[in-house]
Amino acid sequence: MVIQHRYKSPSGKVQQAQQLENLYAKCPLFRARNPSILSSRQRLPPRWKPANCRKYTLPSANVKCRACADSRFSSTSPSKHSHKPNNEENFLSERTMLQIHGGKRLEGEVKVSGAKNAALAIQAGCLLCEQPMVLHNVPDLVDVANMGEVLQSVGASVERDGHDSNSLVLNCSELTSSSPSLESVVKLRASFLVIGPLLARNGETSVPLPGGCAIGARPVNLHIRGLEALGAKVEVKDGVVHATVGPEGTLRGSRVYLEYPSVGATETVIMAAVVAEGETVIENVAQEPEIVDLANFLVSVGARIRGAGTKVITIQGVRSLHGGEYTVIPDRVEAGTLLVSAAITYSNLWLSSIVPAHLTSIVTKLEETGCQIKFKDDNRLELIPPPELLSTDIRTLPYPGFPTDMQAQFMALLTVAKGPSVVQETVFEGRMAHALELQQMGARLSVAESTAFLEGIQEDHGGLQGASVAGSDLRGTAALVLAGLAAEGITKVQGLQHLDRGYDKLDQKLRSIGASVERISMDNAKD
Ligand code: EPZ
Repeated sequence: MVIQHRYKSPSGKVQQAQQLENLYAKCPLFRARNPSILSSRQRLPPRWKPANCRKYTLPSANVKCRACADSRFSSTSPSKHSHKPNNEENFLSERTMLQIHGGKRLEGEVKVSGAKNAALAIQAGCLLCEQPMVLHNVPDLVDVANMGEVLQSVGASVERDGHDSNSLVLNCSELTSSSPSLESVVKLRASFLVIGPLLARNGETSVPLPGGCAIGARPVNLHIRGLEALGAKVEVKDGVVHATVGPEGTLRGSRVYLEYPSVGATETVIMAAVVAEGETVIENVAQEPEIVDLANFLVSVGARIRGAGTKVITIQGVRSLHGGEYTVIPDRVEAGTLLVSAAITYSNLWLSSIVPAHLTSIVTKLEETGCQIKFKDDNRLELIPPPELLSTDIRTLPYPGFPTDMQAQFMALLTVAKGPSVVQETVFEGRMAHALELQQMGARLSVAESTAFLEGIQEDHGGLQGASVAGSDLRGTAALVLAGLAAEGITKVQGLQHLDRGYDKLDQKLRSIGASVERISMDNAKD
Protein backbone atom coordinates (compact mmCIF):
# COMPACT_ATOMS: atom_id res chain seq x y z
CA MET A 1 0.00 0.00 0.00
CA VAL A 2 1.87 3.14 -1.18
CA ILE A 3 0.82 6.48 0.38
CA GLN A 4 1.12 9.62 -1.77
CA HIS A 5 1.37 12.02 1.25
CA ARG A 6 4.44 14.24 1.57
CA TYR A 7 5.71 15.15 5.06
CA LYS A 8 7.58 18.31 6.16
CA SER A 9 10.19 17.31 8.79
CA PRO A 10 11.54 19.78 11.44
CA SER A 11 14.71 20.19 9.32
CA GLY A 12 12.43 21.54 6.60
CA LYS A 13 13.42 18.74 4.22
CA VAL A 14 10.44 17.11 2.57
CA GLN A 15 10.08 13.47 3.57
CA GLN A 16 8.76 10.75 1.28
CA ALA A 17 5.73 9.01 2.83
CA GLN A 18 7.22 5.76 1.59
CA GLN A 19 10.31 6.37 3.73
CA LEU A 20 8.08 6.62 6.80
CA GLU A 21 6.20 3.50 5.74
CA ASN A 22 9.51 1.63 5.59
CA LEU A 23 10.49 2.94 8.99
CA TYR A 24 7.08 1.95 10.33
CA ALA A 25 7.49 -1.54 8.91
CA LYS A 26 11.08 -2.04 10.15
CA CYS A 27 11.50 -0.08 13.36
CA PRO A 28 9.56 -1.16 16.51
CA LEU A 29 10.47 2.09 18.23
CA PHE A 30 9.14 4.16 15.36
CA ARG A 31 5.92 2.11 15.56
CA ALA A 32 5.76 2.61 19.39
CA ARG A 33 6.38 6.31 18.89
CA ASN A 34 4.01 6.77 15.93
CA PRO A 35 1.25 4.18 16.57
CA SER A 36 -1.30 6.04 14.55
CA ILE A 37 0.79 7.00 11.54
CA LEU A 38 -1.06 4.45 9.43
CA SER A 39 -4.47 5.30 10.91
CA SER A 40 -4.67 9.14 10.81
CA ARG A 41 -2.88 10.45 7.79
CA GLN A 42 -3.54 14.00 8.89
CA ARG A 43 -1.18 13.87 11.91
CA LEU A 44 2.33 15.01 10.92
CA PRO A 45 5.06 12.87 12.57
CA PRO A 46 6.64 15.17 15.23
CA ARG A 47 10.36 15.32 15.05
CA TRP A 48 11.37 11.72 14.34
CA LYS A 49 14.34 11.50 12.05
CA PRO A 50 15.46 8.29 10.37
CA ALA A 51 18.87 8.75 12.00
CA ASN A 52 17.36 7.79 15.40
CA CYS A 53 16.75 4.25 14.34
CA ARG A 54 19.16 1.41 15.33
CA LYS A 55 19.92 0.98 11.61
CA TYR A 56 21.46 4.44 11.44
CA THR A 57 24.76 5.24 13.12
CA LEU A 58 24.94 8.39 15.26
CA PRO A 59 27.07 11.27 13.84
CA SER A 60 30.32 12.33 15.63
CA ALA A 61 29.12 14.79 18.24
CA ASN A 62 30.24 18.07 19.61
CA VAL A 63 27.23 18.97 21.85
CA LYS A 64 25.61 15.68 22.86
CA CYS A 65 22.13 15.04 24.14
CA ARG A 66 22.63 13.11 27.42
CA ALA A 67 20.05 10.54 26.46
CA CYS A 68 20.81 9.88 22.83
CA ALA A 69 24.32 11.43 22.59
CA ASP A 70 22.90 13.02 19.43
CA SER A 71 24.78 16.18 18.36
CA ARG A 72 22.06 17.74 16.26
CA PHE A 73 20.35 19.22 19.31
CA SER A 74 21.53 22.53 20.67
CA SER A 75 20.95 21.67 24.35
CA THR A 76 22.29 18.62 26.27
CA SER A 77 19.13 18.14 28.33
CA PRO A 78 16.49 15.93 26.64
CA SER A 79 13.59 17.97 27.98
CA LYS A 80 15.11 21.21 26.64
CA HIS A 81 14.95 20.01 23.00
CA SER A 82 11.45 18.65 23.60
CA HIS A 83 12.79 15.13 23.72
CA LYS A 84 9.89 13.39 25.56
CA PRO A 85 11.43 10.56 27.64
CA ASN A 86 9.72 7.22 26.98
CA ASN A 87 10.54 3.88 25.41
CA GLU A 88 12.67 5.70 22.95
CA GLU A 89 14.77 7.09 25.78
CA ASN A 90 15.15 3.65 27.31
CA PHE A 91 16.23 2.33 23.94
CA LEU A 92 18.69 5.15 23.43
CA SER A 93 20.08 4.89 26.99
CA GLU A 94 20.59 1.21 26.13
CA ARG A 95 22.58 2.30 23.08
CA THR A 96 24.90 4.57 25.02
CA MET A 97 27.42 3.99 27.78
CA LEU A 98 29.65 6.07 30.02
CA GLN A 99 33.38 6.22 29.36
CA ILE A 100 35.24 7.24 32.52
CA HIS A 101 38.88 8.23 32.90
CA GLY A 102 39.54 7.41 36.55
CA GLY A 103 41.84 8.87 39.15
CA LYS A 104 40.75 12.50 38.83
CA ARG A 105 40.08 14.65 41.92
CA LEU A 106 36.69 16.32 41.98
CA GLU A 107 36.00 19.82 43.20
CA GLY A 108 33.07 22.20 43.49
CA GLU A 109 29.40 22.23 44.47
CA VAL A 110 26.42 20.25 43.19
CA LYS A 111 22.73 20.98 43.75
CA VAL A 112 20.82 17.81 44.57
CA SER A 113 17.62 17.17 42.55
CA GLY A 114 14.17 16.29 43.84
CA ALA A 115 13.60 12.80 45.26
CA LYS A 116 12.54 10.15 42.73
CA ASN A 117 10.82 7.93 45.29
CA ALA A 118 8.86 10.84 46.77
CA ALA A 119 7.92 12.27 43.35
CA LEU A 120 6.57 8.92 42.09
CA ALA A 121 4.34 8.37 45.15
CA ILE A 122 3.12 11.98 45.07
CA GLN A 123 2.32 11.71 41.34
CA ALA A 124 0.14 8.68 42.19
CA GLY A 125 -1.40 10.66 45.06
CA CYS A 126 -2.42 13.41 42.61
CA LEU A 127 -5.05 10.96 41.31
CA LEU A 128 -7.01 11.80 44.49
CA CYS A 129 -6.98 15.54 43.73
CA GLU A 130 -10.16 16.83 42.14
CA GLN A 131 -8.51 20.10 41.13
CA PRO A 132 -5.26 20.90 39.23
CA MET A 133 -1.95 20.39 41.00
CA VAL A 134 1.52 21.86 40.45
CA LEU A 135 4.50 19.89 41.77
CA HIS A 136 7.87 21.62 42.07
CA ASN A 137 11.40 20.17 42.35
CA VAL A 138 10.37 17.12 40.29
CA PRO A 139 13.49 15.41 38.88
CA ASP A 140 13.84 14.95 35.12
CA LEU A 141 13.81 11.16 35.09
CA VAL A 142 12.55 8.37 32.84
CA ASP A 143 10.58 6.92 35.79
CA VAL A 144 8.82 10.24 36.42
CA ALA A 145 7.87 10.51 32.74
CA ASN A 146 6.62 6.92 32.75
CA MET A 147 4.50 7.55 35.86
CA GLY A 148 3.08 10.55 33.98
CA GLU A 149 2.05 8.17 31.20
CA VAL A 150 0.33 5.89 33.73
CA LEU A 151 -1.72 8.87 34.93
CA GLN A 152 -2.47 9.98 31.37
CA SER A 153 -3.75 6.48 30.59
CA VAL A 154 -6.63 7.05 33.05
CA GLY A 155 -7.42 10.46 31.63
CA ALA A 156 -5.24 12.82 33.70
CA SER A 157 -3.21 15.53 32.00
CA VAL A 158 0.46 15.75 32.98
CA GLU A 159 2.73 18.44 31.53
CA ARG A 160 6.15 19.79 32.35
CA ASP A 161 5.78 23.46 33.19
CA GLY A 162 7.11 25.43 30.18
CA HIS A 163 8.80 27.99 32.44
CA ASP A 164 10.30 25.64 35.01
CA SER A 165 11.31 22.23 33.69
CA ASN A 166 11.47 20.93 37.28
CA SER A 167 7.75 21.53 37.74
CA LEU A 168 4.88 19.29 36.70
CA VAL A 169 1.35 20.53 36.07
CA LEU A 170 -1.19 17.79 36.70
CA ASN A 171 -4.97 17.76 36.31
CA CYS A 172 -6.77 14.68 37.55
CA SER A 173 -10.19 16.32 37.97
CA GLU A 174 -11.77 14.41 35.06
CA LEU A 175 -10.54 10.80 35.03
CA THR A 176 -11.83 8.77 32.07
CA SER A 177 -10.88 5.30 33.25
CA SER A 178 -10.46 3.51 36.58
CA SER A 179 -7.71 1.22 35.30
CA PRO A 180 -4.31 2.20 33.86
CA SER A 181 -3.19 0.86 30.48
CA LEU A 182 -0.95 -2.18 30.39
CA GLU A 183 1.55 -0.42 28.09
CA SER A 184 2.14 2.33 30.61
CA VAL A 185 2.18 0.10 33.70
CA VAL A 186 4.74 -2.41 32.43
CA LYS A 187 7.42 0.27 32.12
CA LEU A 188 7.52 1.07 35.81
CA ARG A 189 7.27 -1.01 38.98
CA ALA A 190 6.11 1.96 41.02
CA SER A 191 3.05 2.19 38.77
CA PHE A 192 1.39 -0.25 41.21
CA LEU A 193 1.11 2.72 43.61
CA VAL A 194 -1.92 3.95 41.63
CA ILE A 195 -4.05 1.05 42.97
CA GLY A 196 -4.87 2.80 46.29
CA PRO A 197 -5.91 6.22 44.87
CA LEU A 198 -7.81 4.75 41.88
CA LEU A 199 -9.73 2.30 44.09
CA ALA A 200 -10.57 5.01 46.64
CA ARG A 201 -11.56 7.52 43.94
CA ASN A 202 -13.49 5.24 41.56
CA GLY A 203 -14.63 2.39 43.80
CA GLU A 204 -12.93 -0.13 41.55
CA THR A 205 -9.72 -0.63 39.60
CA SER A 206 -7.62 -3.27 37.85
CA VAL A 207 -3.86 -2.91 37.92
CA PRO A 208 -1.40 -5.43 36.47
CA LEU A 209 0.94 -7.05 39.00
CA PRO A 210 4.26 -5.20 38.77
CA GLY A 211 6.28 -8.43 38.78
CA GLY A 212 9.80 -8.81 40.07
CA CYS A 213 12.95 -6.98 38.97
CA ALA A 214 16.72 -7.48 39.12
CA ILE A 215 16.85 -6.92 42.87
CA GLY A 216 14.16 -9.31 44.05
CA ALA A 217 10.72 -10.93 43.71
CA ARG A 218 9.07 -7.85 45.20
CA PRO A 219 5.56 -9.27 45.88
CA VAL A 220 2.64 -6.91 46.66
CA ASN A 221 0.84 -9.12 49.22
CA LEU A 222 1.13 -6.43 51.93
CA HIS A 223 -0.47 -3.81 49.64
CA ILE A 224 -3.38 -6.19 48.97
CA ARG A 225 -3.80 -7.15 52.61
CA GLY A 226 -3.84 -3.48 53.57
CA LEU A 227 -6.60 -2.71 51.05
CA GLU A 228 -8.61 -5.73 52.22
CA ALA A 229 -8.37 -4.43 55.80
CA LEU A 230 -10.11 -1.26 54.55
CA GLY A 231 -12.97 -3.40 53.22
CA ALA A 232 -11.84 -3.85 49.62
CA LYS A 233 -12.58 -7.05 47.71
CA VAL A 234 -9.37 -8.01 45.89
CA GLU A 235 -8.88 -10.76 43.34
CA VAL A 236 -5.66 -11.54 41.47
CA LYS A 237 -6.42 -13.09 38.08
CA ASP A 238 -4.12 -13.60 35.08
CA GLY A 239 -1.49 -11.30 36.50
CA VAL A 240 -3.95 -8.47 37.20
CA VAL A 241 -5.13 -7.25 40.58
CA HIS A 242 -8.86 -6.46 40.50
CA ALA A 243 -10.11 -4.46 43.49
CA THR A 244 -13.55 -3.11 44.38
CA VAL A 245 -14.68 -1.20 47.44
CA GLY A 246 -17.30 -3.74 48.51
CA PRO A 247 -21.06 -3.42 49.22
CA GLU A 248 -20.94 -0.12 51.20
CA GLY A 249 -19.65 1.58 48.04
CA THR A 250 -16.69 3.13 49.87
CA LEU A 251 -13.61 2.02 51.76
CA ARG A 252 -13.99 1.88 55.55
CA GLY A 253 -11.41 3.15 58.06
CA SER A 254 -9.85 0.35 60.16
CA ARG A 255 -6.73 -0.92 62.03
CA VAL A 256 -4.07 -2.16 59.62
CA TYR A 257 -0.91 -3.95 60.81
CA LEU A 258 1.90 -4.30 58.27
CA GLU A 259 3.97 -7.46 58.80
CA TYR A 260 6.98 -5.63 57.33
CA PRO A 261 7.46 -1.83 57.18
CA SER A 262 7.18 -1.85 53.40
CA VAL A 263 7.50 1.60 51.78
CA GLY A 264 5.13 0.79 48.96
CA ALA A 265 2.48 -0.93 51.10
CA THR A 266 2.51 1.99 53.57
CA GLU A 267 1.99 4.44 50.67
CA THR A 268 -0.84 2.34 49.19
CA VAL A 269 -2.77 2.12 52.48
CA ILE A 270 -2.28 5.85 53.25
CA MET A 271 -3.59 6.87 49.80
CA ALA A 272 -6.61 4.55 50.09
CA ALA A 273 -7.44 5.60 53.67
CA VAL A 274 -7.38 9.41 53.21
CA VAL A 275 -10.83 9.35 51.53
CA ALA A 276 -12.22 6.25 53.33
CA GLU A 277 -15.09 6.44 55.81
CA GLY A 278 -13.87 7.00 59.36
CA GLU A 279 -10.50 6.55 61.05
CA THR A 280 -7.63 4.30 59.98
CA VAL A 281 -4.66 3.39 62.19
CA ILE A 282 -1.73 1.78 60.37
CA GLU A 283 0.90 0.08 62.56
CA ASN A 284 4.48 -1.01 61.82
CA VAL A 285 4.62 1.40 58.91
CA ALA A 286 7.67 2.50 56.91
CA GLN A 287 9.22 5.72 58.27
CA GLU A 288 11.20 6.80 55.20
CA PRO A 289 11.37 10.58 54.45
CA GLU A 290 9.49 9.81 51.22
CA ILE A 291 6.54 8.56 53.32
CA VAL A 292 6.56 11.79 55.31
CA ASP A 293 6.71 13.79 52.07
CA LEU A 294 3.71 11.92 50.65
CA ALA A 295 1.76 12.53 53.88
CA ASN A 296 2.70 16.24 53.88
CA PHE A 297 1.59 16.54 50.27
CA LEU A 298 -1.77 14.86 51.03
CA VAL A 299 -2.31 17.10 54.08
CA SER A 300 -1.55 20.14 51.87
CA VAL A 301 -4.50 19.16 49.63
CA GLY A 302 -6.94 18.49 52.46
CA ALA A 303 -6.14 15.09 54.00
CA ARG A 304 -6.00 14.52 57.76
CA ILE A 305 -2.93 12.45 58.68
CA ARG A 306 -0.92 12.20 61.91
CA GLY A 307 2.22 10.26 62.78
CA ALA A 308 4.03 10.04 59.42
CA GLY A 309 7.68 9.32 60.17
CA THR A 310 6.78 7.29 63.28
CA LYS A 311 5.79 3.62 63.58
CA VAL A 312 2.04 4.38 63.70
CA ILE A 313 0.06 6.58 61.31
CA THR A 314 -3.52 7.73 62.05
CA ILE A 315 -5.79 8.98 59.26
CA GLN A 316 -9.20 10.60 59.51
CA GLY A 317 -11.00 10.03 56.21
CA VAL A 318 -12.30 13.12 54.32
CA ARG A 319 -14.79 13.34 51.43
CA SER A 320 -12.34 14.56 48.76
CA LEU A 321 -9.02 16.32 48.18
CA HIS A 322 -8.50 19.63 46.42
CA GLY A 323 -5.56 20.91 44.36
CA GLY A 324 -2.66 23.24 45.03
CA GLU A 325 1.11 23.47 44.80
CA TYR A 326 3.71 21.28 46.51
CA THR A 327 7.52 21.05 46.49
CA VAL A 328 9.11 17.59 46.55
CA ILE A 329 11.99 16.93 49.03
CA PRO A 330 15.60 16.59 47.81
CA ASP A 331 16.85 13.10 46.89
CA ARG A 332 18.84 11.68 49.84
CA VAL A 333 20.04 8.76 47.68
CA GLU A 334 21.38 11.07 44.97
CA ALA A 335 23.04 13.12 47.75
CA GLY A 336 24.58 9.94 49.19
CA THR A 337 25.81 8.84 45.76
CA LEU A 338 27.50 12.22 45.15
CA LEU A 339 29.10 12.11 48.61
CA VAL A 340 30.57 8.70 47.80
CA SER A 341 31.87 10.08 44.47
CA ALA A 342 33.88 12.59 46.55
CA ALA A 343 35.05 10.09 49.18
CA ILE A 344 36.14 7.45 46.62
CA THR A 345 38.25 10.06 44.74
CA TYR A 346 39.58 11.69 47.93
CA SER A 347 37.94 14.98 46.92
CA ASN A 348 36.43 17.92 48.79
CA LEU A 349 32.84 18.44 47.72
CA TRP A 350 29.96 20.73 48.58
CA LEU A 351 26.33 19.71 48.18
CA SER A 352 23.36 22.07 48.27
CA SER A 353 19.63 21.38 48.61
CA ILE A 354 19.98 18.59 51.16
CA VAL A 355 18.03 17.79 54.36
CA PRO A 356 20.63 16.89 57.02
CA ALA A 357 18.25 14.69 59.05
CA HIS A 358 17.60 12.48 56.00
CA LEU A 359 21.32 11.68 55.69
CA THR A 360 22.14 10.58 59.25
CA SER A 361 22.90 6.89 58.59
CA ILE A 362 24.82 7.69 55.38
CA VAL A 363 26.90 10.41 57.05
CA THR A 364 27.60 8.16 60.04
CA LYS A 365 29.03 5.46 57.77
CA LEU A 366 31.09 8.00 55.79
CA GLU A 367 32.53 9.27 59.07
CA GLU A 368 33.46 5.68 59.98
CA THR A 369 35.54 5.56 56.78
CA GLY A 370 37.35 8.68 58.01
CA CYS A 371 35.49 11.38 56.06
CA GLN A 372 34.44 14.60 57.73
CA ILE A 373 31.02 16.01 56.93
CA LYS A 374 30.37 19.62 57.86
CA PHE A 375 26.80 20.92 57.66
CA LYS A 376 26.72 24.58 56.69
CA ASP A 377 23.39 26.36 57.28
CA ASP A 378 20.27 24.24 56.83
CA ASN A 379 20.63 22.83 53.37
CA ARG A 380 24.32 22.68 52.46
CA LEU A 381 27.17 20.42 53.50
CA GLU A 382 30.86 19.88 52.79
CA LEU A 383 32.66 16.55 52.60
CA ILE A 384 36.37 16.51 53.53
CA PRO A 385 38.13 13.26 52.62
CA PRO A 386 40.50 11.40 54.98
CA PRO A 387 44.15 10.82 54.12
CA GLU A 388 43.21 7.13 53.80
CA LEU A 389 39.76 5.53 53.60
CA LEU A 390 39.09 3.08 56.43
CA SER A 391 36.98 -0.06 56.20
CA THR A 392 33.63 -0.42 57.98
CA ASP A 393 30.66 -2.79 57.87
CA ILE A 394 27.28 -2.10 56.29
CA ARG A 395 23.92 -3.73 57.07
CA THR A 396 20.91 -2.41 55.21
CA LEU A 397 17.65 -1.88 57.12
CA PRO A 398 14.38 0.02 56.78
CA TYR A 399 14.70 3.74 57.68
CA PRO A 400 16.18 5.10 59.91
CA GLY A 401 18.55 2.17 59.33
CA PHE A 402 21.16 2.26 56.53
CA PRO A 403 19.33 2.52 53.17
CA THR A 404 19.43 -0.43 50.80
CA ASP A 405 19.53 2.14 47.96
CA MET A 406 23.05 3.12 49.10
CA GLN A 407 24.39 -0.41 49.60
CA ALA A 408 25.97 -0.79 46.13
CA GLN A 409 27.61 2.65 46.20
CA PHE A 410 29.20 1.90 49.61
CA MET A 411 30.37 -1.49 48.39
CA ALA A 412 32.27 0.30 45.61
CA LEU A 413 33.74 2.70 48.20
CA LEU A 414 34.82 -0.06 50.58
CA THR A 415 36.64 -1.96 47.81
CA VAL A 416 39.25 0.84 47.99
CA ALA A 417 39.26 1.26 51.80
CA LYS A 418 42.10 0.01 53.95
CA GLY A 419 41.22 -3.39 55.49
CA PRO A 420 38.30 -5.83 55.27
CA SER A 421 34.58 -4.89 55.29
CA VAL A 422 31.32 -6.85 55.32
CA VAL A 423 28.30 -5.60 53.37
CA GLN A 424 24.99 -7.27 54.26
CA GLU A 425 21.78 -6.69 52.31
CA THR A 426 18.65 -7.49 54.38
CA VAL A 427 15.87 -5.66 52.49
CA PHE A 428 16.07 -7.24 49.01
CA GLU A 429 17.10 -10.82 48.36
CA GLY A 430 18.84 -10.23 45.01
CA ARG A 431 20.76 -6.95 45.24
CA MET A 432 24.36 -8.08 44.84
CA ALA A 433 24.85 -8.20 41.05
CA HIS A 434 27.24 -5.22 41.12
CA ALA A 435 29.68 -7.24 43.28
CA LEU A 436 30.60 -9.44 40.31
CA GLU A 437 31.20 -6.39 38.12
CA LEU A 438 33.42 -4.84 40.81
CA GLN A 439 35.43 -8.08 40.76
CA GLN A 440 35.93 -7.44 37.03
CA MET A 441 37.60 -4.19 38.07
CA GLY A 442 39.98 -6.03 40.36
CA ALA A 443 38.07 -5.75 43.66
CA ARG A 444 38.88 -8.65 45.96
CA LEU A 445 35.58 -9.80 47.41
CA SER A 446 33.38 -12.85 47.76
CA VAL A 447 29.63 -13.08 48.02
CA ALA A 448 27.52 -15.54 49.98
CA GLU A 449 23.79 -15.00 49.29
CA SER A 450 23.17 -11.38 50.33
CA THR A 451 26.46 -10.76 52.12
CA ALA A 452 29.70 -9.60 50.51
CA PHE A 453 33.09 -9.96 52.17
CA LEU A 454 35.52 -7.34 50.91
CA GLU A 455 39.27 -7.50 51.43
CA GLY A 456 39.75 -3.81 50.65
CA ILE A 457 43.21 -2.34 50.09
CA GLN A 458 45.96 -4.53 51.55
CA GLU A 459 49.78 -4.14 51.66
CA ASP A 460 50.36 -6.29 48.59
CA HIS A 461 47.45 -5.25 46.46
CA GLY A 462 44.80 -2.72 46.08
CA GLY A 463 42.98 -0.31 43.89
CA LEU A 464 40.62 -0.80 41.01
CA GLN A 465 41.47 -1.15 37.33
CA GLY A 466 39.42 0.30 34.48
CA ALA A 467 37.27 -2.31 32.66
CA SER A 468 34.08 -2.72 30.59
CA VAL A 469 31.27 -3.42 33.03
CA ALA A 470 27.48 -3.46 32.92
CA GLY A 471 24.93 -2.50 35.56
CA SER A 472 21.73 -4.53 35.85
CA ASP A 473 19.79 -2.23 38.17
CA LEU A 474 19.66 1.45 39.05
CA ARG A 475 21.91 1.66 42.11
CA GLY A 476 24.24 -1.10 40.91
CA THR A 477 24.98 0.94 37.77
CA ALA A 478 25.64 4.04 39.87
CA ALA A 479 28.13 2.02 41.95
CA LEU A 480 30.04 1.06 38.81
CA VAL A 481 30.23 4.71 37.76
CA LEU A 482 31.70 5.57 41.19
CA ALA A 483 34.18 2.68 40.93
CA GLY A 484 35.18 3.98 37.50
CA LEU A 485 35.99 7.40 39.02
CA ALA A 486 38.49 5.72 41.38
CA ALA A 487 39.87 3.13 38.96
CA GLU A 488 43.14 3.37 37.11
CA GLY A 489 42.61 3.84 33.37
CA ILE A 490 39.37 3.80 31.43
CA THR A 491 36.10 2.22 32.57
CA LYS A 492 33.13 1.74 30.25
CA VAL A 493 29.81 1.41 32.04
CA GLN A 494 26.78 -0.02 30.28
CA GLY A 495 23.25 -0.15 31.72
CA LEU A 496 22.39 3.56 31.42
CA GLN A 497 18.72 2.63 30.86
CA HIS A 498 18.79 1.77 34.56
CA LEU A 499 20.80 4.85 35.61
CA ASP A 500 18.58 7.30 33.74
CA ARG A 501 15.54 5.91 35.49
CA GLY A 502 16.69 7.32 38.82
CA TYR A 503 19.47 9.90 38.39
CA ASP A 504 18.82 13.37 36.97
CA LYS A 505 21.82 14.04 34.69
CA LEU A 506 24.35 12.28 36.95
CA ASP A 507 27.08 12.30 34.30
CA GLN A 508 26.64 16.03 33.72
CA LYS A 509 26.78 16.73 37.45
CA LEU A 510 29.98 14.69 37.77
CA ARG A 511 31.51 16.53 34.80
CA SER A 512 30.59 19.85 36.43
CA ILE A 513 32.89 18.97 39.36
CA GLY A 514 35.77 17.83 37.20
CA ALA A 515 35.14 14.15 36.52
CA SER A 516 36.13 12.81 33.10
CA VAL A 517 32.86 11.09 32.27
CA GLU A 518 31.56 11.00 28.72
CA ARG A 519 28.36 9.50 27.36
CA ILE A 520 29.23 7.74 24.13
CA SER A 521 27.16 5.80 21.67
CA MET A 522 27.83 2.07 21.76
CA ASP A 523 27.65 2.13 17.95
CA ASN A 524 30.69 4.41 17.85
CA ALA A 525 32.60 2.91 20.77
CA LYS A 526 35.89 1.24 19.78
CA ASP A 527 37.05 -1.35 22.31
C1 EPZ B 1 10.77 1.43 47.69
O1 EPZ B 1 10.48 0.22 47.01
C2 EPZ B 1 11.72 2.21 46.78
N1 EPZ B 1 11.08 2.43 45.50
C3 EPZ B 1 12.99 1.39 46.58
O2 EPZ B 1 13.90 2.19 45.81
C4 EPZ B 1 13.63 1.13 47.92
O3 EPZ B 1 14.73 0.29 47.75
C5 EPZ B 1 12.62 0.42 48.84
O4 EPZ B 1 11.41 1.20 48.95
C6 EPZ B 1 13.17 0.23 50.25
O5 EPZ B 1 13.57 1.41 50.79
C7 EPZ B 1 10.18 3.43 45.38
O6 EPZ B 1 9.85 4.14 46.31
C8 EPZ B 1 9.58 3.63 44.03
P1 EPZ B 1 9.35 -2.13 50.01
P2 EPZ B 1 9.29 -0.75 47.50
O7 EPZ B 1 7.92 -2.36 49.74
O8 EPZ B 1 8.17 0.09 47.95
C9 EPZ B 1 9.08 -6.84 50.57
C10 EPZ B 1 15.48 2.63 44.14
O9 EPZ B 1 16.61 2.18 43.91
N2 EPZ B 1 7.63 -6.68 50.33
O10 EPZ B 1 9.72 -1.36 51.22
O11 EPZ B 1 9.06 -1.75 46.49
C11 EPZ B 1 9.89 -6.58 49.29
O12 EPZ B 1 9.94 -7.71 48.48
C12 EPZ B 1 14.33 1.70 44.53
O13 EPZ B 1 15.19 3.83 44.07
C13 EPZ B 1 6.80 -7.78 50.45
O14 EPZ B 1 7.25 -8.87 50.75
O15 EPZ B 1 10.02 -1.42 48.75
C14 EPZ B 1 11.23 -6.18 49.84
O16 EPZ B 1 12.00 -7.32 50.09
C15 EPZ B 1 14.72 0.26 44.48
N3 EPZ B 1 5.48 -7.62 50.20
C16 EPZ B 1 10.87 -5.46 51.12
O17 EPZ B 1 9.53 -5.83 51.46
C17 EPZ B 1 4.93 -6.41 49.84
O18 EPZ B 1 3.72 -6.32 49.60
C18 EPZ B 1 10.94 -3.94 51.00
O19 EPZ B 1 10.08 -3.55 49.97
C19 EPZ B 1 5.79 -5.32 49.73
C20 EPZ B 1 7.14 -5.47 49.97
